[in-house]
Amino acid sequence: MSRFLFLTASTREPGHTGNSETLAQRAAASLPADAEQAWLRLADYAIPSFVDLRYTAGSYPRPEGDMATLLDETLAATDLVFVSPVYWFSIPSPLKTYLDHWSGWLRVPGLEFKEKMAGKRLWVISTSGNRERAQPMFDSYRLCAEFLAMQAMPPLWGKGGAPEAVLADGEALAAAGSYFLV
Ligand SMILES: Cc1cc2nc3c(=O)[nH]c(=O)nc-3n(C[C@H](O)[C@H](O)[C@H](O)COP(=O)(O)O)c2cc1C
Repeated sequence: MSRFLFLTASTREPGHTGNSETLAQRAAASLPADAEQAWLRLADYAIPSFVDLRYTAGSYPRPEGDMATLLDETLAATDLVFVSPVYWFSIPSPLKTYLDHWSGWLRVPGLEFKEKMAGKRLWVISTSGNRERAQPMFDSYRLCAEFLAMQAMPPLWGKGGAPEAVLADGEALAAAGSYFLV
């Protein structure tokens, strides 16, 4: 049984669906009925600034509260889908901070985060003004996936901007329809 965790990283106000999420919804519509879906809007979660304890305490306690929810959802997923607009050619801060916490989760005694992440698939669905300039972000995600022996899947990109702008990008909408059907 597969379980797709969609982590949406837009910082638009609550109730305002971003282009990246619109594109992700199109892609999700063609997932098989028996594939579970979970959608988490990262801005709804209290994600504290990450603190690097590698050379002091050397390990991290098990997360609590919202971070425990994010960890549990991450581990429960067979497929992680980063729904990630491009911010400054890079990863938007809610998703970047969540990712920084992976460094801590790697060092929670007994959690075996790295072993559990290996083999999961990482998908990236994004919008921005320009595909070419999104490449640094796509490269970052691919390298993160490789670091954890995850499968980095090719990203899905659409032209964003104003709300619903991506609905004018016919190529992206067509690609969304078969994105997960590999
Ligand atoms: C803080 C910020 C930084 C951005 N940086 C870039 C950028 O570097 N390159 C780009 O093409 N678009 C950039 N954009 C535009 C967004 O990528 C674009 O509007 C995208 O569709 C927003 O995603 P969303 O609709 O899912 O929220 C930026 C937008 C914001 C708010």
